[in-house]
Order: sequence, then structure tokens, then C-alpha cells
Amino acid sequence: MGSFFLYSPPPPPPHSLLVRTNKDVKISSGGHRWPRRKKGCTTSSVVFCQGGGGKAIRSGVGSVFGGRTSALVTPTTATDQEQQISPATVMDASSLVLAVNGQPEIVVKDLVPYSGPTSSSLVETHDGIGIVRFLRGKGFFITGATGFLAKVLIEKIIRTMPDVGKIYLLIKAKDKDAAMARLKTEILNAELFKTLRQTYGKSFQTFMLSKLVPVVGDVCKSNLGLEQELADLIADDVDVIVNSAANTTFDERYDVAIDINTRGPSNLMSFAKKCQKLKLFLQVSTAYVNGQRQGKIMERAFGMGDCIARENNNSLVCEAASRFTLDIQDEVKMVMNSKEAFHPNEVAIKMRELGLERARKLGWQDTYVFTKAMGEMVIDNMRGEIPVVILRPSVIESTYKEPFPGWMEGNRMMDPIVLYYGKGQLTGFLVDPNGVLDVVPADMVVNATLAAIARHGMEQKPEINVYQIASSVVNPLIFKDLAKLLYEHYNSSPYVDSNGRPITVPLMKLFSSMDDFSEHLWRDVIQRNGLTAITSSDGKLSQRHEFICRKSVEQAKYLADIYEPYTFYGGRFDNSNGERLMELMSESEKRRFGFDVGSIDWRDYITNVHVPGLRRHVMKGRGTNNN
Ligand SMILES: NC(=O)c1ccc[n+]([C@@H]2O[C@H](COP(=O)([O-])OP(=O)(O)OC[C@H]3O[C@@H](n4cnc5c(N)ncnc54)[C@H](OP(=O)(O)O)[C@@H]3O)[C@@H](O)[C@H]2O)c1
Repeated sequence: MGSFFLYSPPPPPPHSLLVRTNKDVKISSGGHRWPRRKKGCTTSSVVFCQGGGGKAIRSGVGSVFGGRTSALVTPTTATDQEQQISPATVMDASSLVLAVNGQPEIVVKDLVPYSGPTSSSLVETHDGIGIVRFLRGKGFFITGATGFLAKVLIEKIIRTMPDVGKIYLLIKAKDKDAAMARLKTEILNAELFKTLRQTYGKSFQTFMLSKLVPVVGDVCKSNLGLEQELADLIADDVDVIVNSAANTTFDERYDVAIDINTRGPSNLMSFAKKCQKLKLFLQVSTAYVNGQRQGKIMERAFGMGDCIARENNNSLVCEAASRFTLDIQDEVKMVMNSKEAFHPNEVAIKMRELGLERARKLGWQDTYVFTKAMGEMVIDNMRGEIPVVILRPSVIESTYKEPFPGWMEGNRMMDPIVLYYGKGQLTGFLVDPNGVLDVVPADMVVNATLAAIARHGMEQKPEINVYQIASSVVNPLIFKDLAKLLYEHYNSSPYVDSNGRPITVPLMKLFSSMDDFSEHLWRDVIQRNGLTAITSSDGKLSQRHEFICRKSVEQAKYLADIYEPYTFYGGRFDNSNGERLMELMSESEKRRFGFDVGSIDWRDYITNVHVPGLRRHVMKGRGTNNN
């Protein structure tokens, strides 16, 4: 069992990477984070039923719920289905409910086997995808659990499906105790889990630890850094793998980013091949893997060696276009060789530059999205018979509704700018006023993840399916409108200065050129510091002020430069696959797992949900009244 492996000798001939094969391929050697369209209903999708319960739990941590079996149902024909269907035999996806005492209550009809599959619209209306039924009893292996998105995923799984199987969490740590400590402090202690904490009361931690199993590991390491016995145990128990681990720094060192974002998926896919009952591998990618593509961008998987610069230059004659070729193995070799060649003192900066240079030459905006795109390519190349979903969210921001509105972690993507603006430290930005910020709330991304897992995990077709979870086509948030919403928010709920006085902010000015933006920054910073000019008669004071002013201008320009590929982005992400997925959901599933980005009221979300969430959960209430 090989892997598309960096730094692992011996390499196969390079041409093997270009051949799409079901066999694994081995390869050698090897800041800053980041009105609804209706479509015809598709009837092609089939609602397969799959019993998931009754799985043997081998981790030694007992579930607070006794094991129970749910019947395995064999697929029947549509005719059989239509004859059999009756309200008594249709299992409603929302039938698992929490009783008043907080203990999950299994409704009797849950135990009634459901017969599927069929393309009958009758069944789709009643049963939908069967998300809860599919996930019941399933074992998960999730990476990136200490990160923002995976926490929201874990919370949702456990809150809505308390009889899920074990959820193994790959966590970087020096030993088991340290991994457990990270689980408790970084995950379970998060405010995100307050609903579950209220539901389970004193048994919260016991219950959570009966489901969540922290395992020490690292996606960059061979066999994921897992001890062999543990790796075997997980491989026997896992139905679904979700890879959410990533390095999301736009301008990360090339060696670091390629290791996590390209080699990581390769190592996980090698592990996936050892999982006997694996039903699905889901890779959390990003919509921005589409790099410098323009216009409406469809949900198409990358093939090995796809190169966006070549796509964008396809009018060039072959010879010229051949300058733009992507060979991942060569990229890895380049990283290795360059690393050796650079002086140790300059290796960090040079690796950063190399990542950006390679990304931009080959058609991506930065190292992050370039290495994530290569991660997708490697997965497609290695997947063989394993069903794969590539989930590409755009910019993930705070939760829309669940478990409560506005939960957020980390100061990412547009948020530093939103916060500087609110504090009166930034009154303008370099951005296309008519451009679009493609944002999706984290809980919608998670709902889409679960719906896609259930649908494709049930079907188990050896396919790769891509879902762009994005708003720019169906419900675009235009930058100049965003500026107005931020203005509204901060004028009704201003930050306060150190003297407790409200900070009033003007409407943010949007600049299309760096020169104009830079000029504005200087004017602004001079004015804010109460200076009429940088140089004054008092040499010392003037120098100090100039230093402060220059620093803050440079900082703002750096931010603007890093964000420019996003604030002037020319692509819009098609999300038809997600829309089709939602059409397959029952009404009950739409309520519990809906991710209709077209229905988001941006005014309400930005002013009442996201920015207040950011101020509360990221800024911890600092700068608001009484704090
Ligand atoms: N946030 C967004 O706006 C956004 C948008 C689109 C797509 N995405 C994608 O969504 C996924 C989750 O993003 P996020 O915002 O949750 O990221 P995040 O908060 O930065 O979390 C990244 C996670 O990856 C883990 N990780 C990093 N290197 C690892 C390694 N070598 N081995 C194992 N785990 C490792 C981190 O663990 P440590 O805590 O130990 O560092 C952390 O748990 C990523 O794949 C990202 O590309 C994010």
C-alpha cells in the first residue's frame, strides 16, 4: 500500500504521476489565514438505506447508551418500495430526539426497518437522504479537530446523532495525556459546546469521552504517526474519514504548506486504503483552489497536473503553453533541493517566497490554495475504489444558527479588517467595491458536509464528487454593501476607547489602486495622531511619530497586498451540486441540515450575527461597554 508520498524513497518514474490509475502512486523526496435560484428536481439520485448500528466498540470506553442494533436492509426495487411504503415504515430523519431529562430517547419507529432504495419522489419527500439513519453507529476519523471548522462538525454530529459510533480525533501532541488535555481544553471547553453541556449536565464530559477518542498523530508523518496497534484498531472501526487538517496561512513556507496540505491528504488516503469498512473519504478543501480562474467556476475535480495558468493561456501555441506545467513530484524535489541550497538564516523567508512564486506562476494566488489544489489532485490520483467527496467552502465565518448564532474562533480572513475598522484604526481598504466577498457560515458548511457524507456514503460509488459551498453565484455579498453594513453595525454598537467614549467610524472608503490607498493611509494616520505633517520642528517627536505612522501604514498595506487576490477575485463559485443535494432532503432534513446559502439575509447576518459574534468570541468582549 503506497502513498503519494513526499520524502519517501524510492520514487517511481515521474511519468507514472500523469497516468490516472486505480493504483497508489509514490512520489519521492521530497501570516495570514485566512434572490435564490430554483432548479428542476433531480430524480436520478437514489435513497439507499444502510443500517449502521450494532457496531462493536473496541476502544474500551463504554458508550453511555447500550449498544443496539438497527436492521440492515437490502435494497429493493422501486415497485417493491412503493408497495411497502406506509407512514409506519418510513423512518423520519428527525426521529431521534432528546427527552426533557437530556437523555436521548429512541423513538420506536427508529427500530422499524426502512426499505430502500428508490427514485420515487414519494420516498424522497418522506425520507430524504436519510442523514441521521446513515450516520447512526458510524465510526469517524477526523483530522483538524482542534481547528475552527471541525469543532463545529463534531458538536453537530454529537448533538444531532448521539448514537453515532466512535469519533477518533487525530491530534498533534507529545503523548496520549497531552492529546486528551487538548481535547478537553481546546475542544470540550469551547463555548460552542454549551448546548451539549446544558443537555448532559454533570455527565457531559463522560458522555463526550465515550464518543470522542483523541489519538496522537500528525498528517505529515508516515502512517499518520499512529502507533501500529491503534492504527489497526481505527482502521477496523472507521466508516468515514474527514480530513479537515490544514495549514491555512496564505503565504506559508512552501515546504511547510506542501507537507500538510499535499502530503497530508496523501498519507490519509494511504491510511484509508487499510480501512476495511470505509464508506467515504471527505476532504475539506477550499473554493479558492480554483485559483485565477475567472467567471462562473464549475464544481469540477482536478486531474493530476492540471494547471490553471495553462488553462488561462490556452490560446498560446503549445510551445508557449508548455511553460505552464505542474508536476507535483517536481515541486517536491524543488522544495527539497532549495531547502538544502538556502542559507539556514534565510531559509524561512526564501521558502515563503518560493511558495508564492510557484503558486503565482502556475495560476494560483498563494501558497495555501496552491498546495490545497495539489492535495485534491493527489487524492484523485490515489482514490482507487474509495468514494471521495471534495468539499470546497469559500470563506467560512461564524455560525448562522447552530448551536447558536455567531460562534467563531480565530481572527481570520476579513475579520482583522472588520475589527481594525470598528476600532477606528482603518478607515479604508484596497478592494473592488463591486466585487464579491464569498462567505458561508460554519454551520451551513457542516450541514453540507453531513448531507454529502450520508448521500455518498450510502451509495458507495467509487466516484469523486465536488461540492462548492459558496454564496457568490446565488446570493452575492458585494463589498460596497458590506462596507455599509459594517458602518451600520458600528454606529449602533460602537467600540469604546480607553476613556469609555464611543468610537465613531465613517463609512469605509474603498480603493481600487494601491497608490490611492497608500495616500489615504498616510493622510488618515497623520490626522489620527494629531499631526499636521510628518516633519515638525521637534525632530525627536517627529521621528517617533513618523516611525509609528510608517509602521501602521506598512501593516495595512501588507494586509491589503495579501488579500488583494481575494478582494479583486474574478471568479464566482457555482454551487449546483449542493443545491441538488438539498433538493434530495426531506422537509425535516432541510430544517436540521439545511445549508441554503441563498436564503441568508446578509444585513441580519453581518450586523446581528457575525460581527457581534466576532466581538464576543474572538475579541472576548474587549472594547465594548462595560469591558
Ligand atoms: N476557515 C476558512 O475560512 C476556510 C475556508 C475554506 C476552507 N477551509 C478549510 O477548512 C479546513 C479547516 O479549516 P479551519 O479554519 O478549521 O482551520 P484551522 O482552524 O487553522 O485548523 C487547522 C487544523 O489542522 C490541524 N493541523 C495542522 N497541521 C497538522 C498536522 N500536521 N497534523 C494534524 N493536524 C494538523 C491543526 O492542529 P493544531 O491545532 O495542532 O495546529 C488544526 O486542528 C481546512 O482544510 C481549510 O483548508 C477553511
